Amino acid sequence: MFKHSQLESVQAWLANPAHAAMPLHARIQRAVRQLILDGALGPGKPLPATRALAKSLGVSRDTVESAYAQLYAEGFIERRVGSGSFVAEMTEFTYGHRSSKRDALLRNQAPNLSKRGSAMFRSGGVREMLMPQPFAHGVPETRSFPIRLWERLERQVLKEVGTRALLHCDPQGAEPLRQAIADYLNLERGARATADRVLVLTSSQQAMTLCANMLLDPGDSIFIEDPSYYGARKAFDAAGLECVPVRVDRQGIVVERIMDNPGRAKAVFLTPSHQFPTGATLTLDRRLALIEWAARNQAWIIEDDYDSEFHYSGKPTACVQGLDPHDRTIYIGTFTKSLFPGLRIGYVVLPPQLVKPMALGRTLLDGHTASMAQLTLARFMEGGHFGSHVRTMRGIYAQRLDVLADQVNKHLSGFVEPRVPIGGLQMPCMMTCDIPERVAIDAGRRAGVELLGLSALHAGDDGKAGFLMGFAAYTPAEIEGAVRKLAKALKSLRRK
Ligand SMILES: Cc1ncc(COP(=O)(O)O)c(C=O)c1O
Repeated sequence: MFKHSQLESVQAWLANPAHAAMPLHARIQRAVRQLILDGALGPGKPLPATRALAKSLGVSRDTVESAYAQLYAEGFIERRVGSGSFVAEMTEFTYGHRSSKRDALLRNQAPNLSKRGSAMFRSGGVREMLMPQPFAHGVPETRSFPIRLWERLERQVLKEVGTRALLHCDPQGAEPLRQAIADYLNLERGARATADRVLVLTSSQQAMTLCANMLLDPGDSIFIEDPSYYGARKAFDAAGLECVPVRVDRQGIVVERIMDNPGRAKAVFLTPSHQFPTGATLTLDRRLALIEWAARNQAWIIEDDYDSEFHYSGKPTACVQGLDPHDRTIYIGTFTKSLFPGLRIGYVVLPPQLVKPMALGRTLLDGHTASMAQLTLARFMEGGHFGSHVRTMRGIYAQRLDVLADQVNKHLSGFVEPRVPIGGLQMPCMMTCDIPERVAIDAGRRAGVELLGLSALHAGDDGKAGFLMGFAAYTPAEIEGAVRKLAKALKSLRRK
């Protein structure tokens, strides 16, 4: 159990009116995290059992469970089946929104960071797995990438452009690449893009940070999907924005909630083609309603179209940007999923009035994107290789999705129910057994299987338990092997 003074400091957090807007589980999580950061709870120290802490605080056990799940997700605590939760010791790698023990220790020692800097550091950032293993989400297959072709195109560029490729590049991006992106988006995504409205960046993540800082002020509000993509939420939090969660159903974000209080926020962040993490596609009437809302309220729609290249059944819906005659939509795209994450090229298509300010704003972040990579990518797209790579991978991924859904139905029924998506690189599964989500994920990790829990992606305590399973980067044999390992790990929990 906590010492009296520790319990008091958690209770003080809960009672503090400044934290009243935060959900209960978030307040408990922050209070415990503060105890860890302040060194009041040292590495290896046990945390109270969820039941006991819930009783002391007069809250439900689920609330404490959500708080612990988030602490675990951020790398602050470890959870051991049968023995409880402990403050993390930290050494190795971390994944997604989790951070390493080393990071947590560094956080303890972080010298005089600003409030903003401390908040960014404490968020754990967005760290991806360096060597992805099944079922790390959002990762494409890179082992079969046509690397020889890429190398040849790179050599061609160097030969033709010579040492000019070694100089600074236009902050807006190399013109041939902007043109290739605009052509692709107009054809494949129904966008209204021109080369002079495209701004080439290093990633969608950078695009989110840029939008948050250039379009909104600290303290401003932004509607985000609930559940939401953690990278977006962290970018907006770091910019001092208030994220207002809006429920997502099978047709995407529930726009009626926005219409109920249209002036509540100045922007909305969306993943309309393939909602992260549910996989829902935003219906046309909702898209049109949002465009109307944005025009009426002079608000912005930030559309993250992160994996729309991979659509497996029916016709993909056109992007919101292409439907918006009022120029209130900022379209974000990335090559992280369609090509490879190491490329570090993403982009935005901007309303004309935002091109100059945003291109200038990015000069304060990183100047420009690396010229060689941009020019090689432009060649890759102009030569039709991008289209053919995406088509090939679409076939491979569709097959892998079938294998995964099949294997999950075969070996994990009674534990989870798959929600087979119409596109993307990952499949959500909802838990249908009484094993807590965190316990299942821990068991998976011990068996060498990575899963991203769904409930921590929700703003409140009511998120249904489940996890996201990435499938694109793993062969059918790897998928089968990993599902079997996971099934064994979950079955062994039942026997305990
Ligand atoms: C919804 C969503 N947007 C954006 C990204 C990241 O893209 P980038 O690597 O360009 O930052 C991801 C990666 O997982 C994602 O899931």
